[in-house]
Amino acid sequence: MHDIEVIVGGFMSIDGKIAPDNRNGKEFMQFMTARHKEMLHDIRASVDAIVVGVDTVLADNPALTVRYVDGKNPLRIVLDNHAQTPLTAKILDTYQTPTLIATTKQASKEKIMSLKSRNIDVFISSFEVVNLQELLGALKERGVKRVLVEGGAKVRWSFFEANLVDELFVWIMPYVWGGKNAPTLVDGAGFLRASEAKKLKLKSMEQVEGLVILWFSVES
Ligand SMILES: NC(=O)c1ccc[n+]([C@@H]2O[C@H](COP(=O)([O-])OP(=O)(O)OC[C@H]3O[C@@H](n4cnc5c(N)ncnc54)[C@H](OP(=O)(O)O)[C@@H]3O)[C@@H](O)[C@H]2O)c1
Repeated sequence: MHDIEVIVGGFMSIDGKIAPDNRNGKEFMQFMTARHKEMLHDIRASVDAIVVGVDTVLADNPALTVRYVDGKNPLRIVLDNHAQTPLTAKILDTYQTPTLIATTKQASKEKIMSLKSRNIDVFISSFEVVNLQELLGALKERGVKRVLVEGGAKVRWSFFEANLVDELFVWIMPYVWGGKNAPTLVDGAGFLRASEAKKLKLKSMEQVEGLVILWFSVES
């Protein structure tokens, strides 16, 4: 197993959606109060690195910095097999904190050069899809001990599938969104057998300004 602590987190509607059907995740952010933002940024400040998938960068253009509380900014990591992260993305602004693009040999050499010329760290996986074990090994060499996986649905699945998750937190907002194609907390191929499904143990449960917040540890 790995020796980096991996926490997966997400913000979802009561019907499990993490963004509307059009994938505009920013619509969901309207339900976050100042207190919720502080809590999220406290979690960010408690980790050494934050991971998101390139589809989250393309949909939401997040900065992934710590702004609502005092605290250190973690390293930001984008899983991006083809290095599609736009050079104008907020996450590539390294004024406050560094960014690592985790990509593969399928990415264009020109794009990799452009990223490096902007002081972006580039990790090139030896697999067709960024291999998470390999990535965690590279992060360990960079001194990372605790990682927050903020999303989206496919990236969360990859971490669960690779059996790399230690804890999961979920923020449940009291709204129904529906949408057959709306992303859910964890998507991907999914498990087919009950024996494969990840078993969680509830660690805490609280209600904060309308949100129900659940923390679990992963048992198997
Ligand atoms: N409410 C929340 O908590 C929350 C948080 C984050 C995002 N969101 C929402 O989630 C949606 C995006 O989620 P998503 O599931 O579509 O995409 P995602 O998980 O953000 O990104 C998935 C993409 O990352 C790339 N990737 C590279 N290596 C990977 C690996 N090892 N495992 C998985 N993906 C890898 C792949 O694209 P390439 O092959 O092209 O590289 C893959 O299609 C947006 O609508 C966003 O608003 C919500």
